[in-house]
Amino acid sequence: MSFQIKTFEEYQDAYKRSVENPEEFWGDVASNFFWKRKWTNVLNWNFTEPDIKWFEGGKLNITENCLDRHIYKNGDTPAIIWEPNDPSESHRILTYKQLLTKVEQFANVLKNNNIKKGDRVCIYLPMVPELVIAVLACARIGAIHSVVFGGFSAQSIADRINDAECKLVITADGGFRGNKVLELKTIVDDALMQCKSVDKVIVLTRSRTPISMLKGRDVWWEDEIKKVETQGNPACPAEEMDAEDTLFILYTSGSTGKPKGVVHTTAGYMVYTGYTFANTFQYQPGEVYFCTADIGWITGHSYIVYGPLSQGATSLMFEGIPTFPDAGRYWDIIDKYKVNILYTAPTAIRSLMAFGDEYVDSKDLSSLRVLGSVGEPINEEAWHWYKDKIGKGKCPIADTWWQTENGGHLITPIADVTPEVPGYALLPLPGVQPCLMDENGKEIEGNDVSGNLCIKFPWPGMLRTTWGDHERCKQTYFSTYANMYFTGDGCYRSPEGYYRITGRVDDVLNVSGHRIGTAEVENAINMHSDVVESAIVGYPHPVKGQGIYAYVIANHHIDADKTRQDILQTVTRLIGAIAKPDIIQFVSDLPKTRSGKIMRRILRKVAENDLGSLGDTSTLQDPTVVEKIIEGAEKLRK
Ligand code: WTA
Repeated sequence: MSFQIKTFEEYQDAYKRSVENPEEFWGDVASNFFWKRKWTNVLNWNFTEPDIKWFEGGKLNITENCLDRHIYKNGDTPAIIWEPNDPSESHRILTYKQLLTKVEQFANVLKNNNIKKGDRVCIYLPMVPELVIAVLACARIGAIHSVVFGGFSAQSIADRINDAECKLVITADGGFRGNKVLELKTIVDDALMQCKSVDKVIVLTRSRTPISMLKGRDVWWEDEIKKVETQGNPACPAEEMDAEDTLFILYTSGSTGKPKGVVHTTAGYMVYTGYTFANTFQYQPGEVYFCTADIGWITGHSYIVYGPLSQGATSLMFEGIPTFPDAGRYWDIIDKYKVNILYTAPTAIRSLMAFGDEYVDSKDLSSLRVLGSVGEPINEEAWHWYKDKIGKGKCPIADTWWQTENGGHLITPIADVTPEVPGYALLPLPGVQPCLMDENGKEIEGNDVSGNLCIKFPWPGMLRTTWGDHERCKQTYFSTYANMYFTGDGCYRSPEGYYRITGRVDDVLNVSGHRIGTAEVENAINMHSDVVESAIVGYPHPVKGQGIYAYVIANHHIDADKTRQDILQTVTRLIGAIAKPDIIQFVSDLPKTRSGKIMRRILRKVAENDLGSLGDTSTLQDPTVVEKIIEGAEKLRK
């Protein structure tokens, strides 16, 4: 991996070059990939439209970079190791050769089902190797995948399918999660009652849960593969894609009620995920790399599938949850496969930490060399436990800060290359130009300062648009500050110039590392017939990072306990269980300014039980509302 940075001096040189001569820098990085035709122009951009093009004129297919190019030398290297939910079921290993064959076969299945370049395909599968195969098969023929996380409800799937006008859905009869079975196909059936664009559903057998198969619409994965086999030629040449052709859409939450479809394109995303994977973790050939994310989120896209595979790595994927059959599951897996690199989330670390050290102490974790963290700020206690208990004090921790919109890591320590400080994402990777902005749109220079985190210059993995609504992309990310990408995060820069992410500054919550828009949850709660109005805020939660606190004005005749259950059910139906409030407080009124705006600051303070700094309440329509809310909160805590 010739673009791996090996020392801090090399990092400084690379960084300098990436800022002074970004085109030359990224052109050199991109030369490490396989192109059917080389680009004519490395970068063309403006942040006002925004209009961002990387490697224009280049032709390629990302699957040739993730599969074909490794076959000659490393065809028998495991590409995917799959560990099932239930440890008594056999694991599976797919070598690069085997994975390519399966991807080509399934790409032909897609073709047989009338899918062509540019068509959108919704994927709603459990964490099984077929999920990787489905994703890569789409990319093979230039179809655009939209993976929906298995925890989302029928309504959320329908919204996403309709927004992207997907033609086909790939799902399974059911999926396993701990001792639960997720009824995936039944949920898809419910969703499809609202979706006109879908005419085919491919169903993988996984759980043998009884399901209905609709004649003419639903076909079995296994039958379709057999058809391809009897057709004779299993090969499927890779579609020639333009550098800027869309690779996938991934929906994520924002400040408004409607999730947006973040669009990533082919070449820039490939170059960026490959480069960052190789550098952040310093992956070495032959190592086993284990990312615990779900492929339904960006971390799974970039760091289970595309990043590792483009670098010829061995990527371990796990179907289950960290606490099934017991809280030693991750450590068993590390022991079993001699995992070298572990990439997980603070919420998992905190939850496993709470189960006590005995689950760790009996396992051999000596194979570990590098640890990664992603998704939310990591508190010092969790950081030290991760460092000492899991890494035995010898593994560097890469606290990787980035977002769905970024494609890959932006600010992160580089393992064994840059320093590390608990809780700090530390320094920008080459090519990334962060800056801190104040409320008035002015850049905050110098060190030991805090502000809103923006990025001044494009990087290849950044989003290009939001699906079907370019204006929304412009408004959300490029309008708050002129000529900047605004991240929505707050950030502190230390006297040494190190970056520490302090959390969202917008109305987005981060619950167990999942992004949840407060407006989305409010909309769902307001759908309940007994609800008049609601307001959602986050509060510190010992395991989830943030919990969801709902203030709800209900019709006066309700039975509080019953309505609480009904509201939880409503949110589960409309969004999914991940968005369920942890606390619901019924209130008679919400604190509003005279212009009718809810003062969330006050609600946040009450939820945090931080009453000393409520601030000025004199501008409220009715300041007595606050006292009543505080009283109600106290009762609830008892
Ligand atoms: C937060 C996940 C602190 C942040 C890859 C960001 C983090 C949001 C970190 C994106 C980190 C992610 N330290 N906060 N290392 N990583 N975040 O789109 O608030 O699911 O804006 O992408 O998670 O979440 P998303």
